[in-house]
Amino acid sequence: MDRVQYGQRKAFAVREALAEGRRAMAEDETGPKTARAPKHRAAAARSDIASFIVMDVMAAAAELESEGRSVIHMEVGQPGTPAPEAALSAVRAALNAETLGYTAALGIDALRQRIARSYRDRYGVEVEPSRIAVCTGSSAAFILAFLALFDTGARIALASPGYPCYRHILSALGCHSPLIETGPETRWMPTLDAVAALHRNVGLDGLLIASPANPTGTVIEPERLAELVRYCDENGIWFISDEIYHGLTYEAPARTALEFSGDTVVINSFSKYHAMTGWRVGWLVVPPSLVRVIERLAQNLFISAPAVSQIAALGAFDGTDELERNRTTYARNRALLLEALPEAGLTALAPADGAFYLYTDVSAFTDDARTFAAAMLHEIGVAVTPGLDFDERRGQHFLRFCYAGTEADMAEAARRLKAWPRLKNAQA
Ligand SMILES: Cc1ncc(COP(=O)(O)O)c(C=O)c1O
Repeated sequence: MDRVQYGQRKAFAVREALAEGRRAMAEDETGPKTARAPKHRAAAARSDIASFIVMDVMAAAAELESEGRSVIHMEVGQPGTPAPEAALSAVRAALNAETLGYTAALGIDALRQRIARSYRDRYGVEVEPSRIAVCTGSSAAFILAFLALFDTGARIALASPGYPCYRHILSALGCHSPLIETGPETRWMPTLDAVAALHRNVGLDGLLIASPANPTGTVIEPERLAELVRYCDENGIWFISDEIYHGLTYEAPARTALEFSGDTVVINSFSKYHAMTGWRVGWLVVPPSLVRVIERLAQNLFISAPAVSQIAALGAFDGTDELERNRTTYARNRALLLEALPEAGLTALAPADGAFYLYTDVSAFTDDARTFAAAMLHEIGVAVTPGLDFDERRGQHFLRFCYAGTEADMAEAARRLKAWPRLKNAQA
């Protein structure tokens, strides 16, 4: 049995066990049943998805801080800066002038038009505003896209390591997510051969690629993106492109999948480049045939994205100077850490082309990244995320550092890491 099949069978075994437990509990119930005192209720088996380990690290870091310890936060993937002033002033004006009720399910027209324009300005691609659906962050975009494209039992290939919520959302929706393991030999992105082999073995309904990726920060080469999109088009596989880290690149700008096909589904968000994680606003670009499908789902599931956040998002398009200053800070942080981490002994880094992450192999120091990250937090006050969130099989050998904080914090983290005996000892 290959690893993909093993993972799928394991997930099914867990679900079966949960369902069996619920059946047994129901059968055990012999006493009188009343509407007021239901017994033995259990959560649905489909809700049995893993938690997000980074949240546990955040909680541990907050506890240390409450004891007065200094902690440098490199665990959470979010900018340390607020939404740009242009977004905030648009909101201030709207608070006095508008009712801020529900909006159209696909978003306010001005924002959809502005997003469409950004495709022309940034990539030279024409996108009709009608193909844009605004939603509550890219997290909602995944739910809308997966429901629109896939039935229960569908198989959507994902890269591993990768953002964990893809597989958790898919699993909650009754879909499978066969994984394609990537590594230094494939520049941390799936190859056409790997996708084609998986399609031959299990039959794919979808392929999801994030570039720049989380946790690696690696950007897919345009040629590879083009050939994967073409392969999917030719084989009736939906190509979903998570472009949430576009705008945050340090070598060449990232290319959108829409440059290569109008039949892809592109997902993006104001969370990262626009520094608006808490505003919960993102968008999808879908082929014309799916617009009404997404609209019906959005109407029923969410009604609309928050009006105030859509106004902020529209304003954020005028905040480019401020946002580019943020990017310059990330670029400096990246340069500092690309020098400092190898000096500290962390030499095996994935190509950090974009986003604000460094993904590093720590197998020379530990077989248990979770314990190692906990030691790093408690001993030197540097909070990072163990790779297990992103790669269940190999993640015990990896850590993710987020460098979206201040330059002063990154310099201090570098100083602490270089002096940390656990890294020093292993180097000796
Ligand atoms: C690759 C990737 N996609 C999507 C998301 C979700 O972002 P949001 O729902 O804030 O748009 C994240 C968050 O970290 C991410 O890293």
